[in-house]
Amino acid sequence: MQQLTFTPHPAQAEVLFDPARVKVLCAGRRFGKDILSLNLLLKTCLELAQEREPSQYLNPHVHAWVVGPSYGIITQAWRDLKGLVPESWIKVNPWTKRPMIHDTPPYSMVLDVAGPGRDILIEFRSADRPDDLVGPGLDFLLVTEAARVNEEAWRVVKPTLNSPGRAGYAILNSTPKGKNWFYHLWRQGQPDYEGYDPKRLRSWRFPTFENPYLTEDQLADIEADRKRMGEKWYRQEYLAEFVDSLGKAIPSDAIERCAVGEFQEPEEGRV
Ligand SMILES: Nc1ncnc2c1ncn2[C@@H]1O[C@H](COP(=O)(O)OP(=O)(O)O)[C@@H](O)[C@H]1O
Ligand SMILES: [Mg+2]
Repeated sequence: MQQLTFTPHPAQAEVLFDPARVKVLCAGRRFGKDILSLNLLLKTCLELAQEREPSQYLNPHVHAWVVGPSYGIITQAWRDLKGLVPESWIKVNPWTKRPMIHDTPPYSMVLDVAGPGRDILIEFRSADRPDDLVGPGLDFLLVTEAARVNEEAWRVVKPTLNSPGRAGYAILNSTPKGKNWFYHLWRQGQPDYEGYDPKRLRSWRFPTFENPYLTEDQLADIEADRKRMGEKWYRQEYLAEFVDSLGKAIPSDAIERCAVGEFQEPEEGRV
């Protein structure tokens, strides 16, 4: 069986080795969110490919998706994945004799590491086309920069995690972007959340500085950003705090404090 050579830094290890089925990782820029998430995807898929018996009902044998807000953003994740996967893992098409890798959007690759009938298909999808996200059942879903994916796209992709025969593991990573749907999902993985179920969903929040591989130069750049972009922006992007939408006049917790009564589902003919 093929092995990965990833050595997580301590904060990454906490997430990587946790048994939760769905992981929500809120962390600052350059924390190592994507390197971690892609390694988790590969580790999970390799284990499933080996453990699960091939079945005529599961094609491909193991199926994973990487979803991001736009192809601009997922292209970097695609490059990172190619950096992690040795060329010898890519399946060669038995008819055309060509490697089964699609190196332009929509990116995809088929890995052949666990023997016959045990292929792993990894596909990339952009969330700016929600119709493309009506998908098959998945064993693993990686959503990168999730807070920049719109909520509608998340609603479309979420059911792919509940399909008979499929494992339905997921990691959603992001720097925060105000208190949008990503914040509310992250809240569900915190121990003080009512109905918290750490086997089902766990969440973490780490600042950029947990990445021990940042150089002095990079740290100096971050400090310069702090002066240039302002404290609130710095807290969101590097400390990974869920600050209120930058530029919003009234903080959302003030609105929440003022609101009384119940919110109602919209009804036709009512405003
Ligand atoms: N465990 C690790 N070992 C070595 N380098 C790492 C590790 N984790 C992250 N890095 C490096 O840190 C940088 C940021 O990683 P990346 O995953 O792109 O961060 P993010 O997605 O959080 O912006 C990259 O240069 C990456 O190679
Ligand atoms: Mg990233």
